[in-house]
Amino acid sequence: MIVPADIAPERIQARLHSRVIGRPLEVLAEVGSTNDFVMAEGHRGSPEGFAVLADRQTAGRGRLGRAWASPPGVGLYTSILLRPHLPPIQTPLITLAAGLAVAGAIREVTELDPRVKWPNDVLVDGRKVAGILTELATVGSSVGHVVVGIGINVNQDWQDLPEGVRQGATSLRLAAGRVIGRADLAAAVYASFDQWYQVFSEGRTEAILDRGREWSATLGKPVEVSEGEGTWRALAVDLDAYGALLVRDEAGDLRRLVAGEVRVRTSGEG
Ligand code: BTN
Repeated sequence: MIVPADIAPERIQARLHSRVIGRPLEVLAEVGSTNDFVMAEGHRGSPEGFAVLADRQTAGRGRLGRAWASPPGVGLYTSILLRPHLPPIQTPLITLAAGLAVAGAIREVTELDPRVKWPNDVLVDGRKVAGILTELATVGSSVGHVVVGIGINVNQDWQDLPEGVRQGATSLRLAAGRVIGRADLAAAVYASFDQWYQVFSEGRTEAILDRGREWSATLGKPVEVSEGEGTWRALAVDLDAYGALLVRDEAGDLRRLVAGEVRVRTSGEG
């Protein structure tokens, strides 16, 4: 199988201004899941920054055991290997940094105004355009290596988006009204993540949190929280130092969320 010309590795590399992320870069026509591929590369000793981008995934995965539709020719599916020195409690900050990188890259390449929805989505006009799946290989109680998987709906048409998610999803092309260059976007994502990962590695987590607050789609909004079986209403209040979401429930208690699903309630919902 041949890699399409618009995402040829030399095309992305010619646009790439990054220090660590995307160096080296491997581009595949097809893979099961780029996250699984990069996780295995991590075990094999590949260097920090190693990235894989695939034109198509046959077993793309999302959070909470969901599938990530990955048709060829229209999306951006990439995973990046990191070897940070950190306790597992800090990994949500890496996901937040990746979300900021995706949002920043979208801002750079399009005229859109993306927002980051806790914990791992990027929205345009309130609809999901990208998702991040961060996975860890642990060694005892510390983090061995981290795989950050990024899926972006780039040039999908409505019918390319799975029916089950169509209502709450969009693509950059649908939102911007023009075809978006996948190589430009990939290079912008790697370069932006390179900068945010440097900020993270230097321990400047407040800078990540500040931008996360500024670009948040969630903070200050009434939300519905789903945890396991139950759902409950709250107001999203802030991010804490570890990237957890702080919400005030209807009894007035402040609660800290590290996982789960948060849906922003619309004004019509009461
Ligand atoms: C989500 O929103 O639930 C996260 C979606 C993450 C999808 C990306 S596509 C590249 C990488 N490989 C995968 O199998 N998943 C991630």
